[in-house]
Amino acid sequence: MKGIILAGGTGSRLFPITKVTSKQLLPIYNKPMIYYPLETLLKAGITDILIIVAPEHAGDFVNLLGSGKDFGARFFYEVQDKPEGLAQAFMLGEGFIEDDHVTMILGDNIFEDDFSEAIQTFESGARIFAKQVEDPHRFGVVHFSEDMVAEKIEEKPEHPESDYAVTGLYIYDSSVVEKAKALKPSARGEYEITDLNRLYLDDGTLDVAMVEGAWLDTGTFESMYEATEFVRSRELGIG
Ligand code: G1P
Repeated sequence: MKGIILAGGTGSRLFPITKVTSKQLLPIYNKPMIYYPLETLLKAGITDILIIVAPEHAGDFVNLLGSGKDFGARFFYEVQDKPEGLAQAFMLGEGFIEDDHVTMILGDNIFEDDFSEAIQTFESGARIFAKQVEDPHRFGVVHFSEDMVAEKIEEKPEHPESDYAVTGLYIYDSSVVEKAKALKPSARGEYEITDLNRLYLDDGTLDVAMVEGAWLDTGTFESMYEATEFVRSRELGIG
């Protein structure tokens, strides 16, 4: 199993604090944001990790994280010239993934759960992780049948049919590269991870697991603040 952390993008929703640095390098309490998704991968035993970064901040990521030696891992870097959607990671990562399975985590997602088992027991197809939220229209949304079989998946629907958001952790078999290459850009000009997940859903090989603990997507000021509070309480053993 290989790992990818997607840490590209312009962080435009967090201007001006992302004007001179990358969103994923901003602090969440006592660590740079990217440490949290990195720890999620390391905890699950993944040691070969590709970090995808924007060109203007590539040097900062290398300065911060280095070769991976300090983390007991090997880090590889790939520059995403223009952010054209999450599924682009698998086109950029083709040479890195080779014939292996791959777990991708978004550089701005913080999870409380330990995904070791979900990652280590993965065999084929795709496994994604859902969580009930109050504002599903901000996310990919998965709709389940009465017996909790995933039936439909939509990206930021105006009128969500369920409140299960698709979180930023995805496990795929190596067919993900060919599937990603077959995608067409969406109306907003992006290679959507939701379209990729739909290919697995249509094949009958998409497994949707649940996130039990806290999940924080730190892409807005509010959610960054909440994430900082969450980590602080955990670190100090309060709340
Ligand atoms: C992306 C995905 C969305 C997913 C979310 C999780 O949205 O497109 O499907 O639910 O990450 O964080 P973005 O944060 O890029 O708007």
